[in-house]
Amino acid sequence: MTDAARHFVTPLSLQTASQNTVYTSLFDHPLAHIRLPSEADLMVVAPATANIIGKFANGIADDLLSTCFLAFRGTAVIAPSMNWRMYENPYFRENLSKLVSSGIIQVGPEKGDLACGEKGKGRMAEVPEILETIKGALSLKDLAGEKIVVTAGPTREYLDPVRFISNRSSGKMGFALAREARDRGAGVVLISGPSTLGRPSGVDFVGVETAEEMLGAVEKEMDKGASVLIMAAAVSDFGPAETSSGKLEKGGGLALKLRPTADIVSTIAGRRKRPFIIGFAAETGKNINRAKKKMTDKGMDMVVFNDVTEPGAGFDVDTNRVVIIDGRGETRCDLMSKEQVAEAVIDRLVEMKT
Ligand code: PMT
Repeated sequence: MTDAARHFVTPLSLQTASQNTVYTSLFDHPLAHIRLPSEADLMVVAPATANIIGKFANGIADDLLSTCFLAFRGTAVIAPSMNWRMYENPYFRENLSKLVSSGIIQVGPEKGDLACGEKGKGRMAEVPEILETIKGALSLKDLAGEKIVVTAGPTREYLDPVRFISNRSSGKMGFALAREARDRGAGVVLISGPSTLGRPSGVDFVGVETAEEMLGAVEKEMDKGASVLIMAAAVSDFGPAETSSGKLEKGGGLALKLRPTADIVSTIAGRRKRPFIIGFAAETGKNINRAKKKMTDKGMDMVVFNDVTEPGAGFDVDTNRVVIIDGRGETRCDLMSKEQVAEAVIDRLVEMKT
């Protein structure tokens, strides 16, 4: 804790909350400024004030924190936090860009209410975002150099301007895959149907609505040379044969004629220069053979089977239970978080590509 930090929180409060020793001074524990940085895998400075960023950028070491920073050889994450005017100040910006261009990872700040009562860009990033950045910084970069396109969420097939056919996909599975691939060093494009989830940082995001739009967006990314396509989206298999330009009026019965949508996986698999393709099979029942048939029929390299009727699996839940099937065998994953499923899928992708 710096002197400034101790004006806000006492070392005792932080020690009690974290159950860790709190270091405050360069001289309390001799050589702490050398021992602490040499033992750490990662250094996180949150909040990082304009003052400490200025010291870091200019090699000033006049307290424990700035001295530790100077002695640290690993990856450092800073979460800037200050008044918006200070954040925009050109001297400060020069200091910040000096750090970022030398490999320091910046997270935030966000726009919003500031401690001084003003509004603007300067709020420290939320804790979950800082934690996500830390996880990313510590992850093995075994997908460096890969460009991965992930699809997520549902599609909507419009009957008229206000009604559509869709499904219960929340996007959670696809977003978790996009974050995992990003953390492992890949360049990631996330193409998503409508979802209420926050856009992951460090990922290029493309929002679409219909299956046709999703196909167009995927093809565009393939033309740019993606190496892997992960289709976690629940693409509507059918859409209305005709879309009415005006709202369909009430009155009597309505018989809907449906047409099949274009199959995105099969279209991409049929390309001369095709990526490694991972599809998902949303099944209602434990029939893994149906998933295997989908893998062969659609030309996938890997398929992730999930029985969407099982409690805690499939649509709009935080967990999933899957079997990852590929040319070399099957990997069963018991009920686990979608983040853990994403990790298992990416682990298998890395194994298959090496
Ligand atoms: O989004 P969540 O709430 O987290 O839910 C996750 C999920 C259940 C949607 C996900 O785990 C999942 O199973 N996604 C695939 C859903 C699906 O469409 O399955 P399918 O068996 O109907 O299709 C097989 C594969 O073909 C899928 O990869 C699908 O994206 C793809 N497909 C389907 C139709 C179509 N027109 N084009 C396609 O490319």
